[in-house]
Amino acid sequence: MAEADIAEQAAEFGANWIGPYELSEELRPRIEELGLTEAVEHFREHGYALIREAGPPSLMDEMREAIHMHAKPREGGMAGAPMLLGKHPAVDAVATLPKIMAFGEFACGKAMRVGRIVGSIKRKGQGSPGVHSDSNWMPIPLPEHNLLATFCVPCEGMTEEGGATCVVPGSHRLRRPPSPEEAMSAKTVPIEAEKGDVAVWDGAIWHGSPERKIDGTRTLLHATYQRLYTQPIDDFRYLLEDEEYMASAPEGMRQLLGAELFFHTAKGETDTDMTKFAYAMEASKV
Ligand SMILES: [Fe+2]
Repeated sequence: MAEADIAEQAAEFGANWIGPYELSEELRPRIEELGLTEAVEHFREHGYALIREAGPPSLMDEMREAIHMHAKPREGGMAGAPMLLGKHPAVDAVATLPKIMAFGEFACGKAMRVGRIVGSIKRKGQGSPGVHSDSNWMPIPLPEHNLLATFCVPCEGMTEEGGATCVVPGSHRLRRPPSPEEAMSAKTVPIEAEKGDVAVWDGAIWHGSPERKIDGTRTLLHATYQRLYTQPIDDFRYLLEDEEYMASAPEGMRQLLGAELFFHTAKGETDTDMTKFAYAMEASKV
């Protein structure tokens, strides 16, 4: 269905719907204020974007320390720090940065939820050839509305020789993962970023993590946000039940954790929370 038809139908029903990769009237001013318009257009066209100056370099230093503190060696060499949300204030601050929250809403809708907050450390000689798409447990063709977005926050910045994430620009339009042959032969471009920048790609684009060729580390936070109707990869709902944590959690955390959504609100004696259901009906369409 063409986007104009969606807008027309929405107007007819007095509803608020938007087409794939469109901006809602509610979100547009935030995107403009935060200087994200160009990144939004790039994401729409190429399936990925670089968000400049998303967070201060000092915050990246703090987060780097947190990742190195929590990371454990993974099979294959690279170290990983899973389930980092709620474990360090710098990680929570990055996950809720205004530019990330606004872009997440554009990429996955107002009712987006957090799916994965993981740190990784890549050293010289680590990384692997080939590409994949992140929506790889979804049926094909992938829907026109993007299902998930991965924000890649490089604590030290990232360069091609340092093993920067690479992408196949425009491959999101194929709405399927690469075949095994395509995965190894696709032509990629690196996403080079300064410290403080954040790379983001959609769930359909083909991307990879090539070998690091220099000394030192590439320390990343991978923050995946998902559209309402997909099951979050990791379950962070326990944070919602931790009153002390929630009382001082950054603004945005309730949205990331789906606090206003109706899932799991029926308790046997009481049925689903209909206020939350009504919110989800609206928020899922913009
Ligand atoms: Fe990936």
